[in-house]
Amino acid sequence: MASPAARVPRHVAIVMDGNGRWAKKRLRPRSFGHHAGQKAVREAVEFSLRNGIESLTLFAFSSENWNRPATEVGALMDLFLKALDKEVDELHGNGVRIRFVGDLDAFAPELRQRMLGAMERTAGNAALNMNVAVNYGGRWDIAQAARKAAEAVARGELAASQITEDTLASYTCLADQPPLDLFIRTGGEHRVSNFLLWQVAYAELYFTDTLWPDVDQACLAEALDDYARRERRYGRTGEQVANAS
Ligand code: IPE
Ligand code: IPE
Ligand code: MG
Repeated sequence: MASPAARVPRHVAIVMDGNGRWAKKRLRPRSFGHHAGQKAVREAVEFSLRNGIESLTLFAFSSENWNRPATEVGALMDLFLKALDKEVDELHGNGVRIRFVGDLDAFAPELRQRMLGAMERTAGNAALNMNVAVNYGGRWDIAQAARKAAEAVARGELAASQITEDTLASYTCLADQPPLDLFIRTGGEHRVSNFLLWQVAYAELYFTDTLWPDVDQACLAEALDDYARRERRYGRTGEQVANAS
């Protein structure tokens, strides 16, 4: 058996899905659900700090979410702006390093400035890496990694023959953090929706029907318990894994 410490994922990613349905059940506008989802974000951060998770990567806005009605996109942008004002002090106080991952150029200058400000301010923190994926797409991540590698080749710093899986991985968004161990999706859908495509290759997948605003410590503890029972074989046999540990 692996040691108990190895049973706690170092890096957890969450597709925070189900806000709209949560609101609909209450006959409220979808934005009400997004608002309610903020509490679950706090729960997830607190849970990660308590359990010694090193990196928590949250999918807050996909590159495809721009296709939603303008009113919903606008409400989400307002919410991000307000959340940045409201939450950063406490996160900073708790030693959380905040990083926004995704193509930030698409955001209004005011919002982008606040995101950059929060990243700068918390850059020295080490209790938890909180990565917030905004205007993020897994295909975008791979494409931007390929572009950076191509630029390094053009500058003469890298030979094309040196572009291996490892070199390409080093240009992806979360390259400096532990490999993704656990990929959680709330809200009942069983799909990846263009989240961490590269990083998900050997992550354990966990799906729950719980809608994001209802997620609490107990729900996240269930995901971790489930993870602890998984056998990660990486292509080997169960016997090889048992004998290796
Ligand atoms: C996830 O909840 C939040 C974002 C995509 C921003 P949804 O808004 O997708 O909620 P459902 O899936 O419609 O219930
Ligand atoms: C994925 O959820 C994006 C986020 C949670 C931010 P969606 O609700 O946008 O995904 P689809 O449309 O159901 O695939
Ligand atoms: Mg959804």
